[in-house]
Amino acid sequence: MTQHADHIAQHPLPEDTGRPTRVLAVVNGSAGSGKTTFSAAVGYAAAARKKKVCILGLDKQRDVSRLLGYDDPDAEEELPTILDVLNDVCSLDEAVVPALDSKTEKPIPNLWVILEARGLDKLEFMLAGMTARELWLHRLMGSLRGRFDLVLIDCPGDMKLATTGALITANEIVGCTKSQEKEARGLTELESKITEIHESYGHTGMRDGVDWVVIGEGVSSKSQGKVYWDIEQQVREAYADVVLSATVRDDVKVAEAYTAGQPVTLYSPKSDAAEAYVKIGRQMKLYR
Ligand SMILES: Nc1ncnc2c1ncn2[C@@H]1O[C@H](COP(=O)(O)OP(=O)(O)OP(=O)(O)O)[C@@H](O)[C@H]1O
Ligand SMILES: [Mg+2]
Repeated sequence: MTQHADHIAQHPLPEDTGRPTRVLAVVNGSAGSGKTTFSAAVGYAAAARKKKVCILGLDKQRDVSRLLGYDDPDAEEELPTILDVLNDVCSLDEAVVPALDSKTEKPIPNLWVILEARGLDKLEFMLAGMTARELWLHRLMGSLRGRFDLVLIDCPGDMKLATTGALITANEIVGCTKSQEKEARGLTELESKITEIHESYGHTGMRDGVDWVVIGEGVSSKSQGKVYWDIEQQVREAYADVVLSATVRDDVKVAEAYTAGQPVTLYSPKSDAAEAYVKIGRQMKLYR
Protein backbone atom coordinates (compact mmCIF):
# COMPACT_ATOMS: atom_id res chain seq x y z
CA MET A 1 0.00 0.00 0.00
CA THR A 2 1.36 3.48 -0.83
CA GLN A 3 1.70 6.01 1.95
CA HIS A 4 -1.25 8.02 0.60
CA ALA A 5 -3.48 4.96 0.32
CA ASP A 6 -2.49 4.08 3.87
CA HIS A 7 -3.47 7.54 5.14
CA ILE A 8 -6.76 7.40 3.30
CA ALA A 9 -7.56 3.99 4.79
CA GLN A 10 -6.72 5.20 8.30
CA HIS A 11 -8.60 8.48 8.02
CA PRO A 12 -11.87 7.72 6.27
CA LEU A 13 -14.23 10.63 5.87
CA PRO A 14 -16.64 11.14 8.78
CA GLU A 15 -19.93 9.23 8.94
CA ASP A 16 -23.11 10.98 7.88
CA THR A 17 -24.62 11.94 11.23
CA GLY A 18 -27.07 14.38 9.71
CA ARG A 19 -25.24 17.28 11.37
CA PRO A 20 -25.86 20.72 9.84
CA THR A 21 -23.05 21.46 7.40
CA ARG A 22 -22.08 25.05 6.66
CA VAL A 23 -20.91 25.24 3.06
CA LEU A 24 -18.91 28.43 2.46
CA ALA A 25 -17.90 29.68 -0.99
CA VAL A 26 -14.67 31.71 -0.70
CA VAL A 27 -14.69 34.11 -3.60
CA ASN A 28 -13.53 37.30 -5.28
CA GLY A 29 -13.67 38.20 -8.97
CA SER A 30 -10.04 39.25 -8.71
CA ALA A 31 -7.02 36.96 -8.35
CA GLY A 32 -4.65 37.20 -5.40
CA SER A 33 -7.24 38.47 -2.91
CA GLY A 34 -6.43 36.04 -0.08
CA LYS A 35 -9.01 33.31 -0.78
CA THR A 36 -6.62 30.39 -0.49
CA THR A 37 -4.85 31.82 2.55
CA PHE A 38 -8.24 32.27 4.24
CA SER A 39 -9.53 28.79 3.31
CA ALA A 40 -6.46 26.99 4.61
CA ALA A 41 -5.99 29.19 7.71
CA VAL A 42 -9.60 29.15 8.89
CA GLY A 43 -10.12 25.52 7.85
CA TYR A 44 -7.13 24.46 9.95
CA ALA A 45 -8.21 26.66 12.89
CA ALA A 46 -11.68 25.05 12.88
CA ALA A 47 -10.22 21.52 12.63
CA ALA A 48 -7.86 22.26 15.53
CA ARG A 49 -10.99 23.18 17.51
CA LYS A 50 -12.54 19.76 16.84
CA LYS A 51 -14.79 20.74 13.95
CA LYS A 52 -14.91 18.31 11.05
CA VAL A 53 -13.77 20.29 8.04
CA CYS A 54 -13.46 19.57 4.32
CA ILE A 55 -11.77 21.97 1.91
CA LEU A 56 -12.69 21.73 -1.73
CA GLY A 57 -10.31 23.51 -4.09
CA LEU A 58 -11.48 24.56 -7.54
CA ASP A 59 -8.40 26.27 -8.92
CA LYS A 60 -6.14 24.84 -11.62
CA GLN A 61 -3.21 26.43 -9.73
CA ARG A 62 -3.87 23.87 -6.97
CA ASP A 63 -2.64 26.18 -4.22
CA VAL A 64 -4.93 25.00 -1.45
CA SER A 65 -4.11 21.35 -2.23
CA ARG A 66 -0.48 22.29 -1.75
CA LEU A 67 -1.13 24.05 1.57
CA LEU A 68 -2.90 20.89 2.71
CA GLY A 69 0.04 18.62 2.01
CA TYR A 70 -0.36 17.59 -1.64
CA ASP A 71 2.31 19.21 -3.74
CA ASP A 72 1.27 17.74 -7.07
CA PRO A 73 -2.04 15.85 -7.01
CA ASP A 74 -1.87 15.26 -10.79
CA ALA A 75 1.37 13.34 -10.48
CA GLU A 76 -0.06 10.53 -8.41
CA GLU A 77 -2.35 8.22 -10.27
CA GLU A 78 -4.03 6.76 -7.17
CA LEU A 79 -5.00 10.13 -5.70
CA PRO A 80 -8.58 11.13 -6.55
CA THR A 81 -9.23 14.74 -7.62
CA ILE A 82 -12.34 16.74 -8.35
CA LEU A 83 -11.81 15.92 -12.04
CA ASP A 84 -12.25 12.21 -11.29
CA VAL A 85 -15.63 13.11 -9.81
CA LEU A 86 -16.60 15.01 -12.97
CA ASN A 87 -15.39 12.11 -15.10
CA ASP A 88 -17.57 9.69 -13.09
CA VAL A 89 -14.55 7.78 -11.80
CA CYS A 90 -15.74 8.32 -8.22
CA SER A 91 -18.35 10.22 -6.23
CA LEU A 92 -17.62 13.46 -4.37
CA ASP A 93 -17.47 11.74 -0.98
CA GLU A 94 -15.13 9.10 -2.40
CA ALA A 95 -12.74 11.86 -3.50
CA VAL A 96 -12.22 13.13 0.07
CA VAL A 97 -8.67 12.53 1.37
CA PRO A 98 -7.07 13.52 4.68
CA ALA A 99 -5.18 16.82 4.69
CA LEU A 100 -1.51 16.36 5.52
CA ASP A 101 0.96 18.44 7.48
CA SER A 102 3.65 19.09 4.83
CA LYS A 103 6.34 19.12 7.50
CA THR A 104 5.59 15.76 9.13
CA GLU A 105 3.64 14.25 6.19
CA LYS A 106 1.13 13.03 8.78
CA PRO A 107 -2.63 13.55 8.50
CA ILE A 108 -4.03 16.63 10.25
CA PRO A 109 -6.82 15.53 12.61
CA ASN A 110 -10.35 16.58 11.54
CA LEU A 111 -9.23 18.11 8.25
CA TRP A 112 -9.93 16.65 4.83
CA VAL A 113 -9.50 17.91 1.29
CA ILE A 114 -10.84 17.28 -2.19
CA LEU A 115 -7.85 17.78 -4.45
CA GLU A 116 -7.55 20.04 -7.45
CA ALA A 117 -6.16 19.16 -10.87
CA ARG A 118 -4.63 21.19 -13.68
CA GLY A 119 -7.50 20.15 -15.92
CA LEU A 120 -9.89 22.41 -13.94
CA ASP A 121 -9.13 25.07 -16.55
CA LYS A 122 -11.20 22.96 -18.98
CA LEU A 123 -14.28 22.82 -16.76
CA GLU A 124 -16.45 24.78 -19.24
CA PHE A 125 -15.50 22.39 -21.99
CA MET A 126 -15.99 19.27 -19.84
CA LEU A 127 -19.49 20.31 -18.80
CA ALA A 128 -20.50 21.71 -22.19
CA GLY A 129 -23.20 19.09 -22.78
CA MET A 130 -24.77 19.28 -19.31
CA THR A 131 -28.22 20.82 -18.87
CA ALA A 132 -28.14 23.76 -16.42
CA ARG A 133 -24.42 23.15 -15.98
CA GLU A 134 -24.18 25.97 -13.41
CA LEU A 135 -25.75 23.44 -11.01
CA TRP A 136 -22.84 21.03 -11.38
CA LEU A 137 -21.60 21.36 -7.80
CA HIS A 138 -25.06 21.77 -6.28
CA ARG A 139 -25.89 18.31 -7.65
CA LEU A 140 -22.83 16.78 -6.01
CA MET A 141 -22.74 18.48 -2.62
CA GLY A 142 -25.43 16.27 -1.00
CA SER A 143 -22.89 13.53 -0.35
CA LEU A 144 -20.81 15.81 1.91
CA ARG A 145 -23.66 17.38 3.87
CA GLY A 146 -24.23 15.75 7.24
CA ARG A 147 -20.63 14.50 7.43
CA PHE A 148 -18.79 17.76 8.06
CA ASP A 149 -19.41 20.83 10.22
CA LEU A 150 -17.79 22.97 7.59
CA VAL A 151 -17.06 22.74 3.88
CA LEU A 152 -14.91 25.54 2.45
CA ILE A 153 -14.85 25.97 -1.32
CA ASP A 154 -11.69 27.79 -2.40
CA CYS A 155 -12.61 29.37 -5.75
CA PRO A 156 -10.31 30.57 -8.52
CA GLY A 157 -9.87 34.32 -9.08
CA ASP A 158 -12.46 34.61 -11.83
CA MET A 159 -16.21 34.38 -12.23
CA LYS A 160 -16.38 31.39 -14.53
CA LEU A 161 -18.16 28.07 -14.09
CA ALA A 162 -16.23 26.81 -11.05
CA THR A 163 -17.12 29.96 -9.10
CA THR A 164 -20.70 30.07 -10.38
CA GLY A 165 -21.18 26.48 -9.24
CA ALA A 166 -19.82 27.33 -5.79
CA LEU A 167 -21.99 30.44 -5.44
CA ILE A 168 -25.16 28.44 -6.17
CA THR A 169 -24.17 25.63 -3.81
CA ALA A 170 -23.02 27.63 -0.79
CA ASN A 171 -25.03 28.42 2.33
CA GLU A 172 -22.79 31.41 2.88
CA ILE A 173 -20.66 33.53 0.55
CA VAL A 174 -17.34 34.87 1.80
CA GLY A 175 -15.85 37.75 -0.20
CA CYS A 176 -12.10 38.03 0.38
CA THR A 177 -10.36 41.31 -0.34
CA LYS A 178 -7.24 43.33 0.34
CA SER A 179 -7.05 47.07 0.89
CA GLN A 180 -6.21 47.64 -2.76
CA GLU A 181 -8.22 48.89 -5.68
CA LYS A 182 -8.16 45.72 -7.81
CA GLU A 183 -9.31 43.39 -5.03
CA ALA A 184 -11.94 45.87 -3.80
CA ARG A 185 -13.34 46.11 -7.33
CA GLY A 186 -13.42 42.31 -7.40
CA LEU A 187 -16.02 42.47 -4.63
CA THR A 188 -18.27 44.70 -6.75
CA GLU A 189 -17.92 42.25 -9.61
CA LEU A 190 -18.82 39.44 -7.22
CA GLU A 191 -22.01 41.20 -6.15
CA SER A 192 -23.11 41.74 -9.76
CA LYS A 193 -22.45 38.10 -10.52
CA ILE A 194 -24.48 36.93 -7.53
CA THR A 195 -27.40 39.12 -8.61
CA GLU A 196 -27.18 37.83 -12.17
CA ILE A 197 -27.17 34.13 -11.30
CA HIS A 198 -29.75 34.59 -8.54
CA GLU A 199 -32.23 35.64 -11.23
CA SER A 200 -31.97 32.18 -12.80
CA TYR A 201 -31.12 30.01 -9.80
CA GLY A 202 -32.78 31.74 -6.84
CA HIS A 203 -35.21 28.79 -6.66
CA THR A 204 -32.34 26.56 -5.46
CA GLY A 205 -32.18 28.59 -2.23
CA MET A 206 -28.88 30.20 -3.19
CA ARG A 207 -27.77 33.33 -1.36
CA ASP A 208 -28.67 36.70 -2.83
CA GLY A 209 -25.64 38.60 -1.55
CA VAL A 210 -22.30 38.38 0.19
CA ASP A 211 -22.57 37.13 3.78
CA TRP A 212 -19.07 37.94 4.98
CA VAL A 213 -16.31 40.23 3.79
CA VAL A 214 -12.79 39.37 4.95
CA ILE A 215 -9.96 41.89 4.65
CA GLY A 216 -6.99 39.56 4.21
CA GLU A 217 -4.20 42.11 3.88
CA GLY A 218 -5.04 45.46 5.36
CA VAL A 219 -3.05 48.25 6.96
CA SER A 220 -3.19 49.38 10.58
CA SER A 221 -2.59 53.08 10.02
CA LYS A 222 -2.53 55.77 7.38
CA SER A 223 1.23 55.93 7.64
CA GLN A 224 1.46 52.58 5.84
CA GLY A 225 -0.04 54.21 2.77
CA LYS A 226 -3.00 56.54 2.50
CA VAL A 227 -4.35 54.82 -0.57
CA TYR A 228 -4.55 51.44 1.27
CA TRP A 229 -6.13 53.10 4.27
CA ASP A 230 -8.71 54.93 2.16
CA ILE A 231 -9.69 51.82 0.22
CA GLU A 232 -10.07 49.82 3.43
CA GLN A 233 -12.34 52.53 4.86
CA GLN A 234 -14.41 52.51 1.66
CA VAL A 235 -14.81 48.73 1.86
CA ARG A 236 -15.79 48.99 5.52
CA GLU A 237 -18.45 51.58 4.70
CA ALA A 238 -19.81 49.83 1.64
CA TYR A 239 -20.06 46.46 3.39
CA ALA A 240 -20.72 47.73 6.91
CA ASP A 241 -23.19 44.93 7.78
CA VAL A 242 -21.03 42.05 6.65
CA VAL A 243 -17.38 43.07 6.90
CA LEU A 244 -15.54 41.31 9.73
CA SER A 245 -13.90 43.65 12.19
CA ALA A 246 -10.82 41.43 12.60
CA THR A 247 -8.44 42.34 9.81
CA VAL A 248 -5.35 40.45 8.70
CA ARG A 249 -2.39 42.77 8.26
CA ASP A 250 0.50 42.39 5.89
CA ASP A 251 2.55 39.61 7.49
CA VAL A 252 5.64 37.86 6.12
CA LYS A 253 4.52 34.69 7.92
CA VAL A 254 1.80 34.28 5.28
CA ALA A 255 4.42 34.14 2.54
CA GLU A 256 6.62 31.83 4.62
CA ALA A 257 3.67 29.51 5.26
CA TYR A 258 3.02 29.41 1.50
CA THR A 259 6.61 28.38 0.91
CA ALA A 260 6.40 25.75 3.66
CA GLY A 261 3.15 24.42 2.17
CA GLN A 262 1.16 24.87 5.38
CA PRO A 263 -1.84 26.91 6.54
CA VAL A 264 -0.49 29.99 8.37
CA THR A 265 -2.44 28.97 11.49
CA LEU A 266 -0.40 25.74 11.55
CA TYR A 267 2.91 27.20 10.37
CA SER A 268 3.05 30.07 12.85
CA PRO A 269 0.11 30.01 15.27
CA LYS A 270 1.39 33.01 17.25
CA SER A 271 1.87 35.25 14.21
CA ASP A 272 -0.38 38.28 13.79
CA ALA A 273 -1.90 36.81 10.63
CA ALA A 274 -2.71 33.46 12.29
CA GLU A 275 -4.25 35.16 15.31
CA ALA A 276 -6.34 37.38 13.05
CA TYR A 277 -7.60 34.39 11.06
CA VAL A 278 -8.50 32.54 14.27
CA LYS A 279 -10.46 35.61 15.35
CA ILE A 280 -12.18 35.82 11.97
CA GLY A 281 -13.35 32.19 12.26
CA ARG A 282 -14.68 32.95 15.72
CA GLN A 283 -16.51 36.06 14.51
CA MET A 284 -18.10 33.88 11.84
CA LYS A 285 -19.16 31.51 14.65
CA LEU A 286 -17.39 28.58 13.02
CA TYR A 287 -16.13 27.64 16.50
CA ARG A 288 -16.01 29.12 19.99
N1 LIG B 1 -1.71 39.03 5.18
C1 LIG B 1 -0.84 38.81 4.19
N2 LIG B 1 0.42 39.27 4.29
C2 LIG B 1 1.32 39.07 3.31
N3 LIG B 1 1.06 38.42 2.18
C3 LIG B 1 -0.19 37.94 1.99
C4 LIG B 1 -1.20 38.11 2.98
N4 LIG B 1 -2.34 37.50 2.56
C5 LIG B 1 -2.04 36.99 1.36
N5 LIG B 1 -0.76 37.25 1.00
C6 LIG B 1 -0.08 36.85 -0.23
O1 LIG B 1 -0.88 37.23 -1.34
C7 LIG B 1 -0.82 36.25 -2.34
C8 LIG B 1 -2.22 35.84 -2.74
O2 LIG B 1 -2.84 35.20 -1.65
P1 LIG B 1 -3.80 33.97 -1.91
O3 LIG B 1 -3.12 32.93 -2.73
O4 LIG B 1 -4.38 33.57 -0.62
O5 LIG B 1 -4.91 34.68 -2.80
P2 LIG B 1 -6.00 34.01 -3.76
O6 LIG B 1 -7.17 34.91 -3.73
O7 LIG B 1 -6.22 32.60 -3.38
O8 LIG B 1 -5.27 34.07 -5.17
P3 LIG B 1 -5.70 33.34 -6.53
O9 LIG B 1 -6.83 34.14 -7.09
O10 LIG B 1 -4.46 33.39 -7.35
O11 LIG B 1 -6.12 31.95 -6.18
C9 LIG B 1 0.02 35.10 -1.80
O12 LIG B 1 1.31 35.21 -2.34
C10 LIG B 1 0.04 35.33 -0.31
O13 LIG B 1 1.24 34.87 0.27
MG1 LIG C 1 -6.15 30.86 -4.55
